[in-house]
Amino acid sequence: MNTVAMRKGLLNRLVLKRGVSLLLVLSVLALVVGCGKAPEQPVKKQTVKQESERPVSQPQVKQPRSDEPITVGFSQIGAESAWRTAETKSIQSEAAVRGVNLKFSDAQQKQENQIKALRSFIAQKVDAIILAPVVETGWEPVLKEARDAGIPVVLVDRGVNVSDDSLYATLIASDFVEEGRLAAHWLYDKLDGKGSIVQIEGTPGSAPAIDRKRGFEEVVAGCPELKIIKSQSGDFLRAKGKEVMEAFLKAEGKNINAVYAHNDDMALGAIQAIIEAGMVPGQDIVVVSIDGIKDALQAIVEGTLGASIECNPLLGPKAFDAVESILAGEAVPKKITVADQLFDGLNTSMETVSGREY
Ligand code: AHR
Repeated sequence: MNTVAMRKGLLNRLVLKRGVSLLLVLSVLALVVGCGKAPEQPVKKQTVKQESERPVSQPQVKQPRSDEPITVGFSQIGAESAWRTAETKSIQSEAAVRGVNLKFSDAQQKQENQIKALRSFIAQKVDAIILAPVVETGWEPVLKEARDAGIPVVLVDRGVNVSDDSLYATLIASDFVEEGRLAAHWLYDKLDGKGSIVQIEGTPGSAPAIDRKRGFEEVVAGCPELKIIKSQSGDFLRAKGKEVMEAFLKAEGKNINAVYAHNDDMALGAIQAIIEAGMVPGQDIVVVSIDGIKDALQAIVEGTLGASIECNPLLGPKAFDAVESILAGEAVPKKITVADQLFDGLNTSMETVSGREY
């Protein structure tokens, strides 16, 4: 058996195990698929706590009165994807379950609106802030204002780039770099190590767009016969994913063997463009993406989407656990990593689709 066939067999057996977590799969993948590069160190995140995942105590936090419900401000990015809507619902419903007074603000994709919302939460003297930051940079001044007011900020799903990490209490998120790597490894296996890929990126400057691109390109760089021939942002939107794919098809047509989209919505838009161009998604062009939303799982069952790497949006319980711990003066880890898994034709059925909440 040649090396590629051996790798393929091993990978197939791996993805067959439904429910195996993404991090566990990655530990093995890092060993078996090096794409000609020296294999990287296996990922040990499940067993070894990284420095950033150890609980750290919080700077000066205002303690709320124990006889009153707490008030939390939540600044959400917008509603660009099914994933985002599921995250919003998770945080809103968890607040209701815990009797938290939640102040919700939808920023319509604009950082300036998020900064305004944070300043308004600070002026209203909320007990804590939950922030899903649209982009990584530009947060230091407003985070300093929150810290000076003794209001802890819990980041959900996306990280920020700040020189002083005491500006936020914790980040609860998936590992986007690993998601990108896993998508590349899956595609390598599917294409037997060779082919031309187009990449539809997320919102420029956002943590998932930066990290998913980095993880994916890092693996592809080690595969001499895999090439990324075009790359453009589709802003995490289904309609824009379709538009970008139409342009790629116009420019490259039948040269395209695969699409890597940074989220499922853009992948589903791209699939529509492929169908409208008279090609068969899954046969003429393989599509892989990230999120694991219900529509994507359905597309996997139908054979139009090859695989989706889950990125769990149900962050409400973890976010409020963190808020409550911080307000109780307990130490929380600086990074809480959410474990995800890979879905493809080997472990996805109609039962999986109907069991999906979002
Ligand atoms: O930050 C998470 C990403 O943002 C999701 O993958 C995407 O669907 C969303 O819009």
